[in-house]
Amino acid sequence: MTAQLTVVDHPLVQHKLTLMRDKDRSTKGFRQLLHEVSHLLAYEVTRDLPMTTRTIETPLTTMQAPVLEGKKLALISILRAGNGLLDGVLDLIPSARVGFVGLYRDEQTLEPVQYYFKVPSGLDARRAIVVDPMLATGNSAAAAISLLKDEGATDISFLCLLAAPEGIARLAQAHPDVRVVTAAVDERLNEIGYILPGLGDAGDRMFGTK
Ligand code: URA
Repeated sequence: MTAQLTVVDHPLVQHKLTLMRDKDRSTKGFRQLLHEVSHLLAYEVTRDLPMTTRTIETPLTTMQAPVLEGKKLALISILRAGNGLLDGVLDLIPSARVGFVGLYRDEQTLEPVQYYFKVPSGLDARRAIVVDPMLATGNSAAAAISLLKDEGATDISFLCLLAAPEGIARLAQAHPDVRVVTAAVDERLNEIGYILPGLGDAGDRMFGTK
């Protein structure tokens, strides 16, 4: 597995994730919970952002106050389920640039097929946070990250809600430099590449398709 794995075991995250796993959770409820959890996950994935200080005047005195150093961020959503995490992360980092990678999974081979790619320029100078709720086989994540590296990205984190051990291993093998932040690592993949126990198809559950 990766040396750079962070499991966000905060009680609020774990409670909300359990609510989301429930097959009877409504589309509206699922989407709302994902939005809430994405705030908490964003908090963790940005924990090591570089800081500096700025001189400010409070009503009482002058102080050197901590501020973000200002390394530019790019959020990269893997369509379509990534958008369910994207909005909440953007709430916390509203000035981040946003890119989209469209990949669908060939149901026979489970390999990713690209249909869309649009990312901010200057990725070499940005920290990229790739968002996709489910790290299952890891094939889509590895492919998306390769595309970002082709565009010059060198500082990349992968943010998800649920990860399978297989996906973590695949990502660690393809991109050992990438940090993975997730709310939980589940048991395994089933024979058609779904995470067990999992929560089903994240895209279907958040958009009400099926
Ligand atoms: N994608 C999903 O949405 N769910 C899984 O369990 C695996 C991949």
